[in-house]
Amino acid sequence: MSSEVRLHQILDWDSPQQNARLRRELAAGLLQAKASIAPKFFYDRLGSRLFEAITELPEYYPTRTEAAIFSEHLPAIRQALGQGFTLIDLGCGSCGKAGRLFHAGVLPSRYVAVDISVDFMRDSLQQLKRELPAIEMIGIGIDFTHEFELPDDLPLKRRVFFYPGSSIGNFSPPDAGRFLRGLADRMDASGGLLIGVDLIKASALLDAAYDDALGVTAAFNRNLLRHVNVRIDADFDLRDWQHVAFYNATDARIEMHLEARRALTVNWPDAAGRSLRQFVAGERIHTENSYKYSPEGFTALLASAGFSDIRMWTDPRGWFALFFARRAE
Ligand SMILES: C[S@@+](CC[C@H](N)C(=O)[O-])C[C@H]1O[C@@H](n2cnc3c(N)ncnc32)[C@H](O)[C@@H]1O
Repeated sequence: MSSEVRLHQILDWDSPQQNARLRRELAAGLLQAKASIAPKFFYDRLGSRLFEAITELPEYYPTRTEAAIFSEHLPAIRQALGQGFTLIDLGCGSCGKAGRLFHAGVLPSRYVAVDISVDFMRDSLQQLKRELPAIEMIGIGIDFTHEFELPDDLPLKRRVFFYPGSSIGNFSPPDAGRFLRGLADRMDASGGLLIGVDLIKASALLDAAYDDALGVTAAFNRNLLRHVNVRIDADFDLRDWQHVAFYNATDARIEMHLEARRALTVNWPDAAGRSLRQFVAGERIHTENSYKYSPEGFTALLASAGFSDIRMWTDPRGWFALFFARRAE
């Protein structure tokens, strides 16, 4: 039994090819009439730590509520997962949720941790391997919104994709459908998907969860600009930007933005010399959507993406749901 984790396809943001790609992507978002930066840029090592702090905030109910669903329904979840499966944790973060499942006796044969925040994932996975050396562990450092290749030698049988924390909400519903379809295509009928989904609820609860009194979510949001500065040598001054988060009931989504406190210009070098974007006071950069679903709406999305045998567990207040589904035969 090896005490080592196996690392596969680790993203190197600084390689010329990756860096050129992310420069193109960031420039395209920043130079739009309504500027945007994708939420994956929240996650450098500090961003991952700030997210862990968010999960401890009193206002941030999703992590606690999802954990309570796991505790309450553990026997049924264990039965649904069965034995001898490979758990593929998409956006594993600290690997904490997988670790809690393993320590509760829900043990896969193999654990595959996938995350864009490569250093944080590697450290977290190595720690988990020290705790549970009998489980084979593989780390994959990729941006799964672009490419998503699993190791060639990963068995197709009994693949269970694990996508907790309602991260699926970062995709628009049509993009979420396409992403889920891509997961169905990477498993056979012996596999499954275990996914956590935040449900539509009173807007005051949602607003507070994404704009906490302590300001940790604000720091998490603004850290994205620090990360972008590091990646493409941009000159965002974090003090010029304030966190804005609100529930958009029409589209059933939380929106997070960064709002310019004054008129300013942001510069970054590029192949042509220099790019710049001017902002007027009050102008925003859209940094995240977090779509909320009804149980029926998410069930329909799973079915349309090629899943069947859909099971759902929820908490007594109906705030959050955990789904398990199999690929339709
Ligand atoms: C909201 S956190 C959730 C972490 C953990 N799964 C949980 O439920 O608490 C999202 C995680 O997904 C990762 N992530 C975000 N976008 C990603 C992408 N495009 N490709 C791979 N990982 C991504 C982040 O680094 C982060 O660890």
